[in-house]
Amino acid sequence: MCGIVAYKGQKDCFPILLDGLKKLEYRGYDSAGVACLVNNKIDITKRAGKVKELERAIAGKKSSKNCNGLGIAHTRWATHGEPNQKNAHPHSDESKKITLVHNGIIENYDPIKKFLRSKKIKFKSDTDTEVLVQLIGYFYNKGMLSFEQSVRAALQRVDGAYGIVILNTDFPDMMIAARKGSPLVVGIKDGEFFIGSDVSPIVKHTQKIIYLNDSEMAVIDGTNYEIKSVDKDVSLPKKVEKIDYKIDDFDKGKFKYFMHKEIHEQVTTIHNTLKGRSTKSSVLLHGLSEYWEEIKAAEKIYITACGTSWHAGLIGKNLIERFAEVPVHVEYASEFRYNHSIMDNKTIVIAISQSGETADTLAAISKANDFGAITIGICNVAGSSVSRETNCGIHTRCGHEIGVASTKAFTSQISILYLFALKLADSRKRITKTDMKKHLEMISDVHQKDIKSVLKKEKSIKKMAKKYQNASDFLYLGRGLNFPVALEGALKLKEISYIHAEGYPAAEMKHGPIALVDKNMPNVFIVPKDKTYDKIISNIEEIKSRKGKIIIVTDSKDKILRDLSDDLILLPKTNQYMFVMLATIALQLFSYFIAVAKGCDVDQPRNLAKSVTVE
Ligand code: M6R
Repeated sequence: MCGIVAYKGQKDCFPILLDGLKKLEYRGYDSAGVACLVNNKIDITKRAGKVKELERAIAGKKSSKNCNGLGIAHTRWATHGEPNQKNAHPHSDESKKITLVHNGIIENYDPIKKFLRSKKIKFKSDTDTEVLVQLIGYFYNKGMLSFEQSVRAALQRVDGAYGIVILNTDFPDMMIAARKGSPLVVGIKDGEFFIGSDVSPIVKHTQKIIYLNDSEMAVIDGTNYEIKSVDKDVSLPKKVEKIDYKIDDFDKGKFKYFMHKEIHEQVTTIHNTLKGRSTKSSVLLHGLSEYWEEIKAAEKIYITACGTSWHAGLIGKNLIERFAEVPVHVEYASEFRYNHSIMDNKTIVIAISQSGETADTLAAISKANDFGAITIGICNVAGSSVSRETNCGIHTRCGHEIGVASTKAFTSQISILYLFALKLADSRKRITKTDMKKHLEMISDVHQKDIKSVLKKEKSIKKMAKKYQNASDFLYLGRGLNFPVALEGALKLKEISYIHAEGYPAAEMKHGPIALVDKNMPNVFIVPKDKTYDKIISNIEEIKSRKGKIIIVTDSKDKILRDLSDDLILLPKTNQYMFVMLATIALQLFSYFIAVAKGCDVDQPRNLAKSVTVE
């Protein structure tokens, strides 16, 4: 799951490629590299670490002055081989004629490597990617096949997923790109070509885009291009799409980290998600209109997603079952894609994804489409693969989320699921007009002042975070709608502060996790004043009697909670749906301040990537 950007034209490659890599760094930041054609030789620069390391290295190179016209670049999230310079892309074949960048995984790299070694080909890296470029080189250097035929021959022999862009020094005016399983996009502008693993490095230069489908390749030669099949040497008719998409320049404003900024943005992002999507008496979700007759008749709904988006899915299940009375199954996309799910054209599959590029979620959508289910995408990135591959969908409209830890996307996803549940309930006549009106009133008054008042608690949350920064394990406990909030709180903490944390339904804790509790263990309880309140108090007592530390997030001023807790975050009194948002925001701040206190790289935590584009 890496980022690819490539350029073919008349300009200096480096600024275009480096700018593109920065936009793609959300896909991985273990290493970065560039290959350009300079005086008919491939000039490669790579560095372990982030794009800024590569940028420094390039600034010190003479060749950066005369690298016109043809270049490929890559930012890596390591799969095969350590995240060091040796394993950084681009990789070349032994003859150094052929060089490529690759996104995806070559699953049968081992037997191919053995075969190539038997032909005395030597490998320099530990990557699966080098196996692919050496295989192309093996076919090409035998002299029997053309460049294009060699690429095709190699690709027909590999299993797994790839998005690749390839250069060959024998063809200094040519570039070949191909994809299977890993998205690749070609941007076109008067004799210039831009290739990206998504549109983000391209849209600044052109809005004319060709989305490659699986098993397609783009052969760019001079100022001409052709889209062909990877399977056989045939041209494919292909539409150039005009996209209307703008990437803002990323700016942290007054904040030190994007995550902090994005937590604060929720004052407006939740509002933006909901804006214009309801009237006083009904919910409007225009993106679903074409399929609404089928959606409203659904007999079963699957929600599929990964990570934080999966947690939003759990809240969605609660809301849809509660309001619309349709059974909902929530499955990790990585499991759904291989499970024996029972689907037909009366099944709705909702895929939730911030980035819209998560490989497992895309595979889950593809499976659902094959079964004839109606697929709905809830996605933040317009024009992303999830938006394009689902039958219909709704954009969360919360703006670019840059911090690897998802924050504002989560609360916007929940907002959409809330609207969807109400609309479905209304169409299926499972909600009274009066109740519908009440919910819609709540939605129209998005409680910006309540979110602000949680954000104002920053100072005290920061103080609390410092107190717990050295804990090695946390339990997060909640019930009903707040069980997913507990899961999300635990995920936020572990991914940015590297502290082990687990989320559990508060009562389930007695069935095992309670064995972990001792005087050093913080237990975060999410306690709304609702019908679960008394039960959670009992769960708190159970932990308290084992001397566990108690942190409570609540909207109740009851003395008993103050007496039971070591620390307490008091949220404004709202309603149970808004409580979920407010508790989430408080826990995001708590994790954030712990990570900052520990000196962690909050926006780009170790081992992670914003978008997981490999299986
Ligand atoms: O872009 P997606 O919503 O599909 O991403 C899914 C997960 O990879 C993502 O939520 C991940 O768990 C985040 N790092 C959580 O903060």
